[in-house]
Amino acid sequence: MSTMEFELGEVLLERGQIATAVGRIAREISLDFGDDRPVVIPLLTGAFVFCADLVRELSFDCQIEYIKASSYQGSNSTGKVAVEGLEKLDLKNRSILIVEDIIDTGLTLSKVSQEVWSKSPKAVKIATLLDKPSRRKVELKPDYTCFTIPDHFVVGYGLDFNERYRNLPDIHQMRMK
Ligand code: IMP
Repeated sequence: MSTMEFELGEVLLERGQIATAVGRIAREISLDFGDDRPVVIPLLTGAFVFCADLVRELSFDCQIEYIKASSYQGSNSTGKVAVEGLEKLDLKNRSILIVEDIIDTGLTLSKVSQEVWSKSPKAVKIATLLDKPSRRKVELKPDYTCFTIPDHFVVGYGLDFNERYRNLPDIHQMRMK
């Protein structure tokens, strides 16, 4: 998907709908997680806005540790995922909540989950803002999902198209020019 052929399209999810959905999953997460100071692990860069809103709605104290998982060039997943930032974390016997912006093929989160599990945590759950299950290449089901969407390329609220549009408060579709 080149920048030349695509432009910002219509709003798919507006900020009020997003806030309601974030509040809903925050209540579910607050009920499910105990009072054992879970480690919230957002994936940079896309999850930074979602995670900032989500953690402020949680009822428990948590540790927050951003990590970086890179696999994506434009809109084509290469299938190769590099994870940075986990090596310094001690996750033994900790409860973990991984926070992702969007699950597409599932390759990124499946690699991240594997690496997190290799650090002997007590439990690992996944929260995602968006899920595109129709594009899955590996079996992966998030525990908490704000919205399931069709196969559209979307931007805003942290999500980018070639590093653009992350700061939009609503989620938009990209469309052909
Ligand atoms: P996966 O490994 O294919 O599941 O891809 C996950 C990553 O791809 C996300 O963290 C995003 O960075 C990126 N991605 C997938 N779909 C979209 C989209 O519609 N808009 C923006 N980024 C996307």
